[in-house]
Amino acid sequence: MVVGLGHGSTAILAVRRIAQLLRDGHLVDILGVPCSLQVEEEARRLGIPLTTLEEHPVVDLTIDGADEVDPKLDLIKGGGGALLREKIVAQASQREMIVVDESKLSPALGTRWALPVEVTPFGWRSQQSYIQSLGASVVLRESSDGAPFRTDQGNLILDCSFGPISEPIRLATKLSQRAGVVEHGLFLGLATDVIVATDQAIRHLKRGKSHDCD
Ligand code: A5P
Repeated sequence: MVVGLGHGSTAILAVRRIAQLLRDGHLVDILGVPCSLQVEEEARRLGIPLTTLEEHPVVDLTIDGADEVDPKLDLIKGGGGALLREKIVAQASQREMIVVDESKLSPALGTRWALPVEVTPFGWRSQQSYIQSLGASVVLRESSDGAPFRTDQGNLILDCSFGPISEPIRLATKLSQRAGVVEHGLFLGLATDVIVATDQAIRHLKRGKSHDCD
């Protein structure tokens, strides 16, 4: 089975669990496709056999986190800055399983989280102005040392606060059409399953239907 290994503080728990199950012999024949250089390093350290999308262009299942999940199971991702590789892996995946706690559930994308947009360093201020003209306040993401945050591709991230996004498909199209925008954190129609942890239970939401499982 080819498994996409998501990025972030939630997804890394799944990566560690997969490694443990492999070590214990409960899982066999797993090949991982990491969604970031950081996850690749951790997966190697844990001994998970890895592959690439060049070798395996179709991923059976990806387990990843999200920043915001709306009632249609559309997502905002990219809080960890890995949105481009995460979206490439998600689009290559037959199942995209998102794991969140209930604080990530939202009535409308953008309510709780700024939308991360990955842009090329060349001309980034033009993209900032463009996204401001779409109604967002836009901040260049910084690392803890105050330097501009760089993605695994060497690009920049603009965190774009729109407030509740009423037409995510329209916004996604406008962002995608702009040269200099490499990718945005709207993951529309990609999640097949969302696992929501609450204090009391685990809810398994599936695209088109939902049920609880304890
Ligand atoms: C990484 O770029 C993101 O898309 C993460 O999946 C998302 O930010 C969730 O991260 P946490 O699990 O750390 O909240």
